[in-house]
Amino acid sequence: MTLQPSHDPFADPLHPIYHFAPPANWLNDPNGLIHWQGKYHLFYQHNPAEAVWGPMHWGHAVSPDLVHWQHLPIALSPTPDGPDKDGAWSGCAVDDGGTPTLVYTGVFPESVNLATSADPDLRTWTKFEGNPVIARPPEGLTLSGFRDPCVWREGGEWRMVIGAGERDNPEANTPGKGMVLLYRSPDLRTWEYLHPLCERVFNPAETLPTGMMWECPSFFPLDGKWVLLVAAHLNLPVSLTVGFLGEYRDGKFTPGAPFKVDYGDRLFYAPQTFLDASGRRLMFGWLYEGRTVRAHRAAGWAGVMSLPRLLSLRPDGRMGCEPAPETAALRSRLLLELQDTDLGEENLLEGIAGTALEIELEVEPGSAAALHLQICTASDGSEQTRLAYHFTESRLVIDTTHASLDPEAAGALKEAPLGKPAGEPLHLRAFLDRSVLEVFADGWACLTTRLYPTKPTSTGLNLFARGGKAKVHSLKVWEMGSAFNPEA
Ligand code: FRU
Repeated sequence: MTLQPSHDPFADPLHPIYHFAPPANWLNDPNGLIHWQGKYHLFYQHNPAEAVWGPMHWGHAVSPDLVHWQHLPIALSPTPDGPDKDGAWSGCAVDDGGTPTLVYTGVFPESVNLATSADPDLRTWTKFEGNPVIARPPEGLTLSGFRDPCVWREGGEWRMVIGAGERDNPEANTPGKGMVLLYRSPDLRTWEYLHPLCERVFNPAETLPTGMMWECPSFFPLDGKWVLLVAAHLNLPVSLTVGFLGEYRDGKFTPGAPFKVDYGDRLFYAPQTFLDASGRRLMFGWLYEGRTVRAHRAAGWAGVMSLPRLLSLRPDGRMGCEPAPETAALRSRLLLELQDTDLGEENLLEGIAGTALEIELEVEPGSAAALHLQICTASDGSEQTRLAYHFTESRLVIDTTHASLDPEAAGALKEAPLGKPAGEPLHLRAFLDRSVLEVFADGWACLTTRLYPTKPTSTGLNLFARGGKAKVHSLKVWEMGSAFNPEA
């Protein structure tokens, strides 16, 4: 049951309008993503009773087009005395020869469980009476976690990876490590443990430390390579989503160097991917909040889903990540369109304002040192979110340290090194949705952040260059409509 707070979260000026969010209260990881009988189903970790993490249920929503959503009743709730009595934690959905099947984590202790549906709309689920199908981690491993199954079909059987981590042991002088464990099954019900698919020692001194526990693994082929994504649990709030591109043969994965899946770190966490009917690899992630628990309770909601992101393998060997083309259906009105225009000190967005916008920009550096895009700027300048791209160093920076006068909304400075050759044009798409900002650069770099302006006038936009003149090839700004009401 969803307990509604005393006010409608959707009426809150900081609540997103075109990103998915639950009817009220708490959301974390996307779960069970599946394109079933022509509809996209999004399940998600949900505490329906409060705007804080708690006993986990699976919330549920359905979409005809990947971007407009309808809330549905809760799909899974903890069963008293069942292996998920303390929560139905994260997991995936598979098509078991025509039977939609959820493979999910029960707690406590952490175990693997199944639920199936005979309902074409996937509203009702029956838990397998033989749950748990895996009751405990493999013998001989001392794990700090064992959860979040990701299942796929391979060579006439099922394969699964499960997130795990080994604790550090100062006495034995062994550092902790993140791991994913590989299993096989003929029928989803009996599982055989094979070996760790991937493991990596945690070294906090590394530029990209990969943590001691890997949550929510997603393992999938992408245009000839294989990708492993893990939510690397360091210590909150510094956890982040890490990706590895590599080769997978005979149950062995040879990963390349780790990379950040989103330069907003913790603010894009625990993503899940799935294949849709047209064979596209799509990803949703949980957009964490940047304010205090007290603020969540007062707001009556916490946690937002990212826009659907389309993954690819790029010719330069990177993982491509772009908003799914369907996001264009969220545009309600074109506010500005410019082409082949000089960008200097003068504000090209004079007179444009808004808090639910998409801004698309293709710009050549020319003689400019940096490009500045400022959003949610208060009329007195007291609040502002600042995006800058430094052409020579090829650095994209988003600064939310001045975004809000609310002392409970912590700002941050996040940076994406784009590594572009000098002079190359930059392609940016920025999606502002009240307290959410998702930025996509050059088809691969994502930087997600959160902002909590307090003033009704914090709607202004500035776009200008410093240190010379850049050349705007094209600039478009759209007002965005609601994800819940296609007419809005
Ligand atoms: C990741 C996570 C998962 C777990 C779920 C519980 O955010 O911690 O590992 O299954 O959330 O809500």
